[in-house]
Amino acid sequence: MKSVSTRCAAIAPSPTLEIDAKAVAMREAGINVIGFGAGQPDFDTPQHIKDAAIKAINDGKTKYTPASGILDLKKAVVEKFQRDNGLVYEPSQIVVSNGAKHSLFNAFAAVLNEGDEVIVPAPCWVSYPELIKINGGVPVYVHGPAEQEFKPTAAQMRAALTEKTKAILLNSPNNPCGYAYSREELQEIADLAVEHDLFVISDEIYEYLVYDGAQHCSIASLGEKIKENTIVVNGVSKSYAMTGWRIGYTASALPIAKAMGSLQSHVTSNPNSIAQYASVAALNGPREELAAMVKEFSERRELMVKLINGIDGLSCVPPKGAFYVMMNVTSAFGKSYHGKKIETSDDFCSAALDGVKVALVPGGPFLAEGFCRLSYATSRKNIEEGLARIAQFMSELV
Ligand SMILES: Cc1ncc(COP(=O)(O)O)c(C=O)c1O
Repeated sequence: MKSVSTRCAAIAPSPTLEIDAKAVAMREAGINVIGFGAGQPDFDTPQHIKDAAIKAINDGKTKYTPASGILDLKKAVVEKFQRDNGLVYEPSQIVVSNGAKHSLFNAFAAVLNEGDEVIVPAPCWVSYPELIKINGGVPVYVHGPAEQEFKPTAAQMRAALTEKTKAILLNSPNNPCGYAYSREELQEIADLAVEHDLFVISDEIYEYLVYDGAQHCSIASLGEKIKENTIVVNGVSKSYAMTGWRIGYTASALPIAKAMGSLQSHVTSNPNSIAQYASVAALNGPREELAAMVKEFSERRELMVKLINGIDGLSCVPPKGAFYVMMNVTSAFGKSYHGKKIETSDDFCSAALDGVKVALVPGGPFLAEGFCRLSYATSRKNIEEGLARIAQFMSELV
């Protein structure tokens, strides 16, 4: 058999999904595993959203829709941008896709030519480098040190620009680091992008999950020029506990929206019709459950940060958004757990899973070697029990 294409051969499988799968397999084998790998809210989709989906089925909304989404959903997205971000778009500037991941794929496909460089703040979510590479682009990592809450500054980004730079990727609130850029910091990045006429692909999927009074700001709202250059990516997955429904969307300048819509019309056609009707209900509906979820996440975050910083040899920076904590595990490097040497965050995670049955995600794939990512999209009981096990694990290192 001939080999797979060079482009596909270069793509690494998603490591976060792999860890989750291993923890699930152990659980199915009857092992009591505490999982900190979750990349999704542990809450159920609110009932009014489910009801809208059931109504859509009963009303026969089960056929193809326009490839880039139904008008009602585009209007709901337009209203959301106006209400939450002070951004004015026409429905024709909105493209609804199969999750934000698909929206990101479309965005990179729409703006990148072979060899174009994309500034990627690192650490970063594992899919960005692969999504850029699949589309012929080259990720250029700009590292934000832990002392800077992992946030690269505009000046650091400027230093990484070359004549091949085509776009800047932003993800605020951030997975995995939990930081959120302030309006002032975003203004500096916007100025840089406008000065060099760069696209900004702004992944705002964790928009509502911000804590301690932090306010989400969309870079596109900082002026007409930056709005023209920005593709805002968002979706219902994380905010409305709808990860399985697969609805994401973009807002962009019309030519980009048209390009993404055409691409999508040949690749997937429309996203699931029923999920689109459910998403209209999500975006237009009551926000009490969202507010309750954010409050609960914030309290769990405080608990997790307190427990981690209370364990000898471990530490973390309190995150301001999303639902992840980055735990510094470098003090374990060079030590052994029951004869198993720990040299990397991968070794740490695999020893913790085998030894104390706690699933953590290693920092390596996020370009954050020395750290492990813990999700607090799990119960307080699990957070307490899981970190008690990690404390035990740390105390057994020699
Ligand atoms: C930063 C970031 N962007 C996008 C996504 C994908 O969202 P969706 O499930 O809507 O494809 C995720 C999911 O983990 C994410 O963490």
